[in-house]
Amino acid sequence: MREEIVKLLERENKLSDDALSEIKNIEINDFSNIVKEVGNEETDYIKKSEIQKDLNTQYIGKELYVFKEVASTNTVAKFLSMHNVANGTVVISEKQTQAKGRSGKSWESPLGGVWLSIILKPNVDQSKFPMITLATGVAVAKTLEKIGVEEPEIKWPNDIMINGKKICGILTEAIAKFNTVENVIIGVGIDANLDVSQFPKELQAGTTTLKEELKREGNENLLIKIFLEEFEKISELFNHEGYEVILKEWRKRSYSIGKIVEVREPFNTYYDGYVVGINKEGALIVEKIDGTLKKVISGECIIKN
Ligand code: BTN
Repeated sequence: MREEIVKLLERENKLSDDALSEIKNIEINDFSNIVKEVGNEETDYIKKSEIQKDLNTQYIGKELYVFKEVASTNTVAKFLSMHNVANGTVVISEKQTQAKGRSGKSWESPLGGVWLSIILKPNVDQSKFPMITLATGVAVAKTLEKIGVEEPEIKWPNDIMINGKKICGILTEAIAKFNTVENVIIGVGIDANLDVSQFPKELQAGTTTLKEELKREGNENLLIKIFLEEFEKISELFNHEGYEVILKEWRKRSYSIGKIVEVREPFNTYYDGYVVGINKEGALIVEKIDGTLKKVISGECIIKN
């Protein structure tokens, strides 16, 4: 992580040659102030002032850092979460050079998309962690509905789909201490003002973008503002144990329930089954061919019909 942060500062010309050669002696704490300084500088497309103007939230996005380019907003957010930032701090970048997807995959992040990470300090038991992920999917779906997308759906655990094509991915990472989640980094990537042709060939058939769906370019700053507001509403439900409401909203938009899937659990356990639903822990309930029910907590779920 240290290396990535140094690279970020190098790119921004924030470190003199002398400083670079002495870098080994610099306290990591000193970096955090410089990172915050860079994140407060004027950017070209994503504008902190526009996002925060009339932003109707109590804490989400009140502290906001916007960068022109970082390796991954999740990494910068993870770093900042250890250096005195408020609950609900948001890190955005216009581009990412080494963005992370789920299951160790990479994530395409050219200029034009919305790439952001939210730092939450929820202080909840680790068992509640999947619920934060589901709640984020609901917030993205509601945001898309607000800007005119018809019937976005959520593929378990939290890919947002339009007509069977993925438009958004979410990567949640927890920093836990003694079974309690101290910090959660919620990384959200929305393919906004992009053309599908900008993606690698092998991803094109399964990908869509807001520009393709709405047949026009949209305002990314407005999209982010609406998302932060929707996110705060749903995280308030989470904070007050409104899990049933979150699940209801999720189930209403489910792309997975009622489908035949191939489940790929960690450590290479693969099997086919029928998706019966999600339970109150946020796990997917799959009926295997032999009739037994499986509870899937993590892994991939590939739709077969
Ligand atoms: C997925 O594989 O579906 C999850 C993709 C998550 C991408 C977002 S973009 C912002 C944040 N920073 C990252 O490096 N990844 C997440």
